[in-house]
This record gives sequence, C-alpha cells and structure tokens, in this order.
Amino acid sequence: MTTIAQACADVLRESDPLTKVRRARAVARAWRRGTLAHEFDTAMPDAPGRPARPELLPPNRMPKRGRGGSEKGRIALLHALAHIEFAAIDLAFDAAGRFGAQFPRTFVDDWISVGADEAMHFAVLHRRLRTLGSGYGELPAHAGLWEAAEETAHDAMARLAVVPMVLEARGLDVTPETVARFKAGGDEASARILHRIYTDEIRHVGFGAKWFGYLAAGQDIDPAEQWRMLVRRHFRGVVKPPLNDSARATAGLTRDFYAPLADMEPEQAQAERL
Ligand SMILES: [Fe+2]
Ligand SMILES: [Fe+2]
Repeated sequence: MTTIAQACADVLRESDPLTKVRRARAVARAWRRGTLAHEFDTAMPDAPGRPARPELLPPNRMPKRGRGGSEKGRIALLHALAHIEFAAIDLAFDAAGRFGAQFPRTFVDDWISVGADEAMHFAVLHRRLRTLGSGYGELPAHAGLWEAAEETAHDAMARLAVVPMVLEARGLDVTPETVARFKAGGDEASARILHRIYTDEIRHVGFGAKWFGYLAAGQDIDPAEQWRMLVRRHFRGVVKPPLNDSARATAGLTRDFYAPLADMEPEQAQAERL
C-alpha cells in the first residue's frame, strides 16, 4: 500500500502544473477512500517541482502591476494569484507529509483537503486566464514563495504560525478589496472566483489556528505569546493593516494574537527581531 508520505512527496516533486493538479486531486480522493497508509516513511523534497515557465523574478524586479483597472492589469493580478495558489498546493501537501506523524490522523485529513482546495483554486484561475487570452506561465512571477516553507521546515509550530496564520490570513485581509476592484472593472466572473477562494481560505486559516492551538495546549504555553515569538523569529515581513478582523476571528485567529504585532511601527518590529 502506498503511504500518505509517498503520495505527498509525489505531488511535491511534480513540476507540470496541470499534472500536479491532477495528482493532488487523486491523492485527496485516495486518502478519503482509505487506500493510502497513515505512515510517514518518506522525507519531503527540499524544494518542489517547478515548471520552466513562469520565469521567477525577485520581488524588486517584478513589473509594476497597477491597480487592476485595465484588462491587462486584471490578467497580471489573476496571474499573480494563480502563482500563489500553485505554491499553496505544495505547502499543503508538504504540511501533511512532513508533519503528519506529530499529530492525530485528522491533521492529515485537514491539510489534504486544503491541498485539494488549492489545486482547484489554481485550476479555476488558470482557466480564467485562458478565457482572457493568457494562462499560467505567460507572465513572470514572484520567486521566493517557498522561503517560508524552508524557514519552518524543522518545526511544525513555526510552519503553522507563519504559513496559514500569517500568509494565508494576509489573503483574507486583501481579498475583499480585490473582489471589489474586479467588480468595479466589470469582471464579475473573476470576482466570483475570488470570492469562492476567499471563503475556502477562511477554512484554511482555521485549520492553522486549530492545530497551532493543539500544539500549544500540549506544551502548556500561552498560544498568542508563542505565536508572536515564532512570527518575529521566522517571518521577515510585518503584520500590518488593513486587517480583516471578522474573517480572521471566524477562523479562530483573534486580535489578542496579532494586535500587539500590528500596532508596532515597522522599525520597532524590525528592532525586536534583531
Ligand atoms: Fe487557495
Ligand atoms: Fe489556502
């Protein structure tokens, strides 16, 4: 019987985007049917498979995107989001395969279902780009989305603190404004897709908060304080407004976690990390 760790590693190693999507969905189906063993006999690869295109550029070399008013701007924005969803497939399967042994079986259930969502998000955005005459790979994309995974590869608690509870939570903060921008540009179809993704992402942040809380309870430590310590140590950005307090709270990520970080001036947050 194939193990869940082998299946996750196979998804990670796949470099062709649509094959990765198919593989991700097949693993999620097999896991739900119980045809994968709950065993962690395989190490996750250090870096996931990536296609030859898009060209990956450091953030400071990315072309300016504008505000998404023109069709060209909207395509650039959808492409950037597709790239984030593509990386999110790997992040979910890496979480399940790398850290699953430290948790009850339901941890794998949760992150495999997240991986299936991310594959669907990517596929829908790619299809939308195709309809608009583009497609994933046609524009350059951000290098460095795997950095957070590398930075936290050794520590499940740090991974949960940074990936779902900072990066995916950031998506909740900015998406309502992006949906409004697509609507204002007359692109209802893209707006609907982004709204659907938004509701799924609330669930993903919720899984992060839930499993972070599970680890904190096991160690008898204050979860909010521990979270801030890990974020300062492992996340190089700042937690800054706008903050979608209601969506964050729905996911179980309450203000007592992040308000003390968000209230700091960037320089002060920087100083605390040194
Ligand atoms: Fe997603
Ligand atoms: Fe997500």
